Amino acid sequence: MSTRLLFPTLVYQERLRQRGWRTLNARLLRECRQLRADDAAGRRWSARNYPGGYTSYSSAHRMQRLSPTFAALARELDRHVARFTRTLQMDLGSRALTMTDCWVNIMGRGAVHGLHLHPLSTISGTYYVAVPAAAPGLKFEDPRLERFMAAPPRVRGARRANRPWVTLPARVGQLVLFESWLRHEVAANPGAGERVSISFNYSWF
Ligand SMILES: [Fe+2]
Repeated sequence: MSTRLLFPTLVYQERLRQRGWRTLNARLLRECRQLRADDAAGRRWSARNYPGGYTSYSSAHRMQRLSPTFAALARELDRHVARFTRTLQMDLGSRALTMTDCWVNIMGRGAVHGLHLHPLSTISGTYYVAVPAAAPGLKFEDPRLERFMAAPPRVRGARRANRPWVTLPARVGQLVLFESWLRHEVAANPGAGERVSISFNYSWF
């Protein structure tokens, strides 16, 4: 083989647990909706910055410390993050990666999550609590895109690894992990059903 794979971008997608996740998921869904009802500051912030949706990003972004239910989710996520860092072959030394932030996103009809990355974090991700039919997935952008100066487009049906954008479908009970520098976005939710997710950051610093 004369062509080698260098500098791959790894994205982790897995079920939270093989069994028994539905009970935790149902509690999370109730708490996400209750948080929206209780969090007037977050609703005001979302009205300005997240039309059609609610996020606790600016108001209640350490849910793992406020709620035993979110703390239980964090313990599950810790296992997955540890696995992902082993796959990435990160040398963490004696310092563990720890969850710094954990917040709720509820996307109603038309809500969009524009292209962004998560500065000051190491691993970021999302757990899916409710995903109505036709709700959008998570779209990743090739981190080298701004350097593709004279690169032709890829052929139709190109392998996923060779495409400049890849959308991973959102599935209830699953999580996605990626390195925090990887830009991503969520397209507009076309339906009336609410897409509920919990996003989080892990930091080594
Ligand atoms: Fe994000």
